[in-house]
Amino acid sequence: MRICFVCLGNICRSPTAHGVMEHLVANAGLAHAIVIDSAGTGADHEGEPPDSRARAAARRRGFDLDHRARRFTAADLDRFDLVIAMDQRNLRHLQRMAGGRSTPVIRLLRSFDPTAAVDAEIDDPWFGGDAGFEEVLDQCERACAGLLAHVREQLR
Ligand code: 4NP
Repeated sequence: MRICFVCLGNICRSPTAHGVMEHLVANAGLAHAIVIDSAGTGADHEGEPPDSRARAAARRRGFDLDHRARRFTAADLDRFDLVIAMDQRNLRHLQRMAGGRSTPVIRLLRSFDPTAAVDAEIDDPWFGGDAGFEEVLDQCERACAGLLAHVREQLR
């Protein structure tokens, strides 16, 4: 099972979801069965490590964000089973790229959080303060737990 998290810059939200999911998957003993990556629909930050505020907030919760930003390309549509968008704008971008294809499955991350509305987004924390990064982590932790449950079902 191959999963790619996608936001705009691939330096705040998607590397956070990527790090949280990697942690949950490793703790569940499923690292051999699930490949996790992240990418951005934009290219402005290609090659950069995650934002220092995202890294610091994640580190405080025990998540290591070890990634270099890259752009999501059409070839990625063949490489992943599940492509997980952080917000509606990136979801639409991915759906346009995918055209009418039935795979990969493309969904919003928070649609896996049973406590969130089906169309809920992970808001962009880039222009805000530290609280925004904490909120991204809260939302990613809840949604990734739901995503892990979903993936377990798929793997059975
Ligand atoms: P991300 O956050 O999409 O969660 O990585 C952003 C990072 C940078 C910018 C926007 C969003 N930017 O405008 O440069």
